Amino acid sequence: MKLIVKKDYDELSRYVANEIAECIRSNPRTVLCLPTGNTPVGVYRELTRMYKEGDVSFAQCVVFNLDEYYPIDPDDPNSYRSFMKHNLFDHVDLPPESANIPNGQAADPEAECERYEAEIRESGGIDLALLGIGRNGHIGFNEPGRELCLRTHVVTLTQSTLEANHGPFGSIEAMPKRALTMGIGSIMSAKRIIVIASGPSKRQAVEAMLSGKVTTDVPASLLQLHRDVTVVLDELVGVSQCDG
Ligand code: GLP
Repeated sequence: MKLIVKKDYDELSRYVANEIAECIRSNPRTVLCLPTGNTPVGVYRELTRMYKEGDVSFAQCVVFNLDEYYPIDPDDPNSYRSFMKHNLFDHVDLPPESANIPNGQAADPEAECERYEAEIRESGGIDLALLGIGRNGHIGFNEPGRELCLRTHVVTLTQSTLEANHGPFGSIEAMPKRALTMGIGSIMSAKRIIVIASGPSKRQAVEAMLSGKVTTDVPASLLQLHRDVTVVLDELVGVSQCDG
């Protein structure tokens, strides 16, 4: 794993947006995997600015988002579909049919996961996956546990994720308790991976991800087995060394 530490969140965001734009310039048909959460908001802001200044175009790109709550109406303001529209999709030239997110309203969630996985395969596979990391070390919604699923699947959210993510819903009771997420195998099949983390609340998870040990208790630690992962942090995370 390659570790890059930036002075602050803005520098991290600019650096990562540049990496993504560079990748799209060298291959306009880039297939991207994108995350939600607070951490990528700055990257999306920078990509929007670059698009508006004519520095990058998403016209031929395909995006697969990592995950979506279940059940949730895609038009619900707290859905990841709404998040992506608000932070990126509505501001750039990515064709709507190229913006893929698991359907949080699918009648048969297992069938929806199979459909999603097939779409990823048919796209030719992910060229570049951008990932955040949960405070408990999850990636997408691959939660810590005895086993991890390889492909897109339905997951029951852990208490720590419910606590970390309930904010916009107002309470834990009001939020969906399940999600549809790409699996560890779907993520690890990406040709290249960039993981971003900002602030001290991520220190423990980041240390475990870079520790040189692999465990399903820290799903992000499996990324150490991938041959092209760059971890980009800001100084506030407080981690400057990578053993993995
Ligand atoms: C959610 C998403 C993850 C994301 C994590 C961290 O749980 N499913 O993909 O990495 O949040 O979010 P944040 O960047 O807000 O800390």
